[in-house]
Amino acid sequence: MIAPRLPRVGTLDAWRAAAKRLAAARVDPAEVEWGLEGEAAPLFAAPLDDLPEPTRALRVPRAFPDLARTLIPERTHLGLSTAYELVLRLQSEPRFLENRADPAVARAERIAKAIRRDIHKMHAFVRFKEQHGRADRRMFTAWFEPDHRIEEAAAPFFADRFGDMDWTIRTPEVAIRFREGALELVAQDGSRPDEGDEMEGLWTTYYGSIFNPARLKPDAMRAEMPKKYWRNLPEAAAIPDLIANARSRVAEMHEAGLTPAAPAIARGPAPEDTTMKMPAQHDLFGSQTLDEVAESASACTRCPLYSDATQVVFGEGPRSASVMFVGEQPGDKEDLAGRPFVGPAGQMFTDCAERVGIDRDDYYVTNAVKHFKFVLRGRRRIHQRPAASEVNACNWWLQQELQMVDPKLVVAMGATALHALTGNGAGILKRRGGVEQTRDGRPCLVTVHPSYLLRLPDEDLRMAEIEKFEADLRRVHDLVREAAA
Ligand code: URA
Repeated sequence: MIAPRLPRVGTLDAWRAAAKRLAAARVDPAEVEWGLEGEAAPLFAAPLDDLPEPTRALRVPRAFPDLARTLIPERTHLGLSTAYELVLRLQSEPRFLENRADPAVARAERIAKAIRRDIHKMHAFVRFKEQHGRADRRMFTAWFEPDHRIEEAAAPFFADRFGDMDWTIRTPEVAIRFREGALELVAQDGSRPDEGDEMEGLWTTYYGSIFNPARLKPDAMRAEMPKKYWRNLPEAAAIPDLIANARSRVAEMHEAGLTPAAPAIARGPAPEDTTMKMPAQHDLFGSQTLDEVAESASACTRCPLYSDATQVVFGEGPRSASVMFVGEQPGDKEDLAGRPFVGPAGQMFTDCAERVGIDRDDYYVTNAVKHFKFVLRGRRRIHQRPAASEVNACNWWLQQELQMVDPKLVVAMGATALHALTGNGAGILKRRGGVEQTRDGRPCLVTVHPSYLLRLPDEDLRMAEIEKFEADLRRVHDLVREAAA
């Protein structure tokens, strides 16, 4: 095993040098664990320098460097390993990138698409704030939180556009500095600065003035400007009011017989009647619907599973549900349908629930992990258990579902769900039937996963286990009543 550790700034160049060495020595991609400086390497990893210096240049098609540039910033390092996998294969199969059905090529395209989208969002949503204190030059700063490590790829755009001023864009990992025409990136450990300036008011006024209430399309707005960016956009504070008042503004425009025009950017102080009331931050986020959270989850790249799955499978059911059933992860059928528990295990769950008087449509049904994890065997996608790191990464979404649905009772079906909900998934068969507490203090009924029932080869044992599963489910109504009392 070789575990190259790359710097946070200059990652692409360092990856290129490492990939050259590894590919010249034909090191299998499975034997390489890519990471960044400061990240732990496996104990017995051999140093990269043990490999001989490459003597020949690598052969890659002309389009490859651009593709590599869009893979390297991927946050989970899947982009680093995918780029190396491609480079190595190109040495013996120079045209294989043309086969878009190849799983590695398809994966690379999915990653590159996510990175391009992230760069586009950074270019669109960075907002500079003026910093006072220097008399000789105007100085601006901005804060941005990208999904991936795109700072190096995104920086030249800002240098081109804002070359006539000095500025710093900070992200949690890197500071991009532009001083008197020179661009410099510095690795840093940063948190969001707390600063404001009059530019904020200007942005808000500008946004309010170009907003056309007659063209209000909240879904399209959210798709283009997802809510996670709102926190750093001064104009976002105006959106709830603009949406809420859109109807009455359209009616007023009809009455006045005016055609709405987009005035030029506001230069002076905002006139009285266009000054927007600033809602508190929690008003912006507290009114999120489950659909909106699901929409944010659909772009999730918190762990590598997004790259091979067809889509995120979010939970479903009423927001007012008193019970939340939690499984492991979507299976093959769920991955294609985009709905939880619709395959064979889902059928087993639905049938058992119905037999004990539970209509699953009355309850919220979800999974600990929202992407399907599998390996390809021929044309079949074989389920793989998610790793603890993947369960932990996905807990971000499960916790939001718990908070929003606020169930009286949670049912953990299987070890993965139990781990996600309580922090410990060990010994499920001993714990099944018990009522424990979730991390956030809710009663949690422990039971087995319905796929366990499908896997039991012995018919008698299977019938006995199905009865036990139904006995667990039968307790649900009583436990909800107890929790509500
Ligand atoms: N298994 C699960 O845990 N969840 C599903 O949605 C399907 C199968």
